[in-house]
Amino acid sequence: MHVHYDHRAFTIGGERQLIVSGAIHYPRSTPAMWPKLMKESVAAGLNTIETYLFWNLHEPRRGVYDFTGRLDVIRFCQIAQEHGLNVILRIGPYICAEINYGGFPAWLRDIPGIRMRTWNEPFMREMSRWVTYVTDLLRPLFAPNGGPIIAAQIENEYGLLGGIYGEEGERYKQWSADLGRSLGIGVPWIMCYGGAAGALETINGFYGHQQLDRHWSEHPDQPAIWTEDWPGWYDTWGTPHHRRSTRDVAYAVARFFAAGGTGINHYMWHGGTNFGREAMYLQTTSYDYDAPLDEFGLPTTKSRALTRLHQVLHKYADVILQNERPIPFEIGPGHVAFDYGPLNFLCNDDPTDAAELTWEGERYTLPPQSVTIFADGQFLLNTAELAAAEEIHREMLPADADLRDWAWRAEPLPVDRPSGLVLDRPVEQLSLTRDETDYCWYTTRFTVPGGEATLTLEGVGDYVYIYADGVPATATPAPLPEVRGALDGEGFTQTFRLTLTPGEHELSLLCCAVGLIKGDWQIGMANMAEERKGFWGRALLNDEPLTGPWELRPGLMGERHALYRPLGFGGAPSGDRAVGISPTAPSITRAADPAPPAGAIPAPPAGAIPAPPAGAIPVSQAMSLPWVPGAAAAGQPLRWWKATFDRPTGDAPLALDLGSMNKGLAWVNGRCIGRYWLIPGTGETEPWVKPPVEDDWVGQPTQRYYHVPADWLKPEGNLLVLFEEAGGDPTAIRLCGWVEA
Ligand code: GAL
Repeated sequence: MHVHYDHRAFTIGGERQLIVSGAIHYPRSTPAMWPKLMKESVAAGLNTIETYLFWNLHEPRRGVYDFTGRLDVIRFCQIAQEHGLNVILRIGPYICAEINYGGFPAWLRDIPGIRMRTWNEPFMREMSRWVTYVTDLLRPLFAPNGGPIIAAQIENEYGLLGGIYGEEGERYKQWSADLGRSLGIGVPWIMCYGGAAGALETINGFYGHQQLDRHWSEHPDQPAIWTEDWPGWYDTWGTPHHRRSTRDVAYAVARFFAAGGTGINHYMWHGGTNFGREAMYLQTTSYDYDAPLDEFGLPTTKSRALTRLHQVLHKYADVILQNERPIPFEIGPGHVAFDYGPLNFLCNDDPTDAAELTWEGERYTLPPQSVTIFADGQFLLNTAELAAAEEIHREMLPADADLRDWAWRAEPLPVDRPSGLVLDRPVEQLSLTRDETDYCWYTTRFTVPGGEATLTLEGVGDYVYIYADGVPATATPAPLPEVRGALDGEGFTQTFRLTLTPGEHELSLLCCAVGLIKGDWQIGMANMAEERKGFWGRALLNDEPLTGPWELRPGLMGERHALYRPLGFGGAPSGDRAVGISPTAPSITRAADPAPPAGAIPAPPAGAIPAPPAGAIPVSQAMSLPWVPGAAAAGQPLRWWKATFDRPTGDAPLALDLGSMNKGLAWVNGRCIGRYWLIPGTGETEPWVKPPVEDDWVGQPTQRYYHVPADWLKPEGNLLVLFEEAGGDPTAIRLCGWVEA
């Protein structure tokens, strides 16, 4: 099947086709969920599924590839095809997506001289190697070879960088498009928001129709394809839950098609879950996104309302596609109509006032910000009324499964661990952890006359617990801002109040990373290669610099001892690498590097990626203490907790209610279900998304329920392990089911 496009639409097998697509990211659900997600998508009138490709997850170490379990993108595409769905594959490899490091593997950062997303040989060499490798691997899945993929994306929203890389950035962008085209995949390459010659530029945003004039003046020969229609928004730790109303989403979609768009992708259609440590900086474990299919894959009021709209679009697809771009005609101030012959769209763009008008001799009231569709003179629908047609309410109810056999053990403090790496001054933690753990301890000693003291850390990220003489004293004021400014600025300075007795003290910082950034703008437009965690600057006590030395201890001992794994567990479950510094090699395949394409940039010189400094990850003396039965350590910081439970009956999607805990990581049967943090949603939502994004559950925990995929459970004896940083009451944790109310 050949895929092209003309000025009006995509053509598949020579026929113009309306694209009604939804984004489902395969690592954000489990393979057992995929068939159901596809089925729901078809039922809701989608004909295409869009996904990014996650380089960071597929190549966790350079040359070591993983396409198993949740990462089996081949199977994901096949299942889509089995359900009659096409696929748009957004290869990137920069993908943003609220995923760790915007989809880049963390090791990329260690390549000397690398600068991401600009004309830089080491970066382009790695990008070209990966894109070539993965395109070859997936070649049978492209439409001309009988597969479902009808379009592929290179790069992502280059326009958002605002030209900071100047001429070099422009050259890189064009090189990206040329790289794609050189691979001969036989389907169009797209680039959203920031195109280059040879690729179709697509649209992102909340209201696609507002960008059509610009799009067509820049690209008169291209159709209008809206690859990111945001039907909701993501959540970050410490801000309220985000919603976008069904009514507004339906208006935006209908308005886009009315004005001449011929393809849309709901980003996200199913948001899903950021398992493990896969979320970007501050992104919650849930990626529900207020999407039409909820985090657990269930349909919502929003998907039901959009289904009706999708059905109408499909029914009249030929009418839309055979017409030229329609010319709007005014039917009143702020009201326009689009005439496709038998199909008519009446749009009221006014956000507050209804419009009264006569159409074909009948009087109509057009609700504020709504689109009314008529066919053959008959009223078909009004977008403002769609949501009311079928409302779905669900609630989390305790499942019939008790967590039993609670036991705990303490994560050792620095003094109880093997000696660390001793340095004159601290270094940022990723150079030691390679992002295989969130944690790094920094310890130093000093003498004070006593009393109240102000400790200022310059050059620190993200969340830090301050321990004075082995006792937790204070922690980072939260919530943290999503955009922190320059690395040497206020966003990376933290100040703490301490009360100290006269004499010598030991100061330990437990630095906790909460995901790597997704883009340059989160670090003041420094290049993403500058991303850093932990502590790398000066510590000032009452304005006097602490002189060191500093001892650094990366990771947790419990991680190193894989306390999260069921006893006798050989390796990490495939596609779901457990987090932490693994004592055994992960069960992933090592593939030979593919041969570089002709004319490709040469391979990196041997040793280009520096090895971790010797002794950075010291071999431990085993954590000798056993698990202590009971919950006597409830409320205490730095505790590992475990319990067992049986799988509840019924097929309601499951989640853990962690409302009694504080902050940490959770694993079920050795698989990490994600970071948890019960921080209340009191922070400011990024102002530019409001409206249409609205705050909900203000002041309540940003995320209380944590998805436990049913297919990760066995009938009996499942193991839950938590690492709690600050102290919580695990006995109040409940397994819940998500049921219709
Ligand atoms: C877009 C980006 C997506 C995602 C989205 C917000 O700008 O392309 O990857 O980050 O914003 O959810």
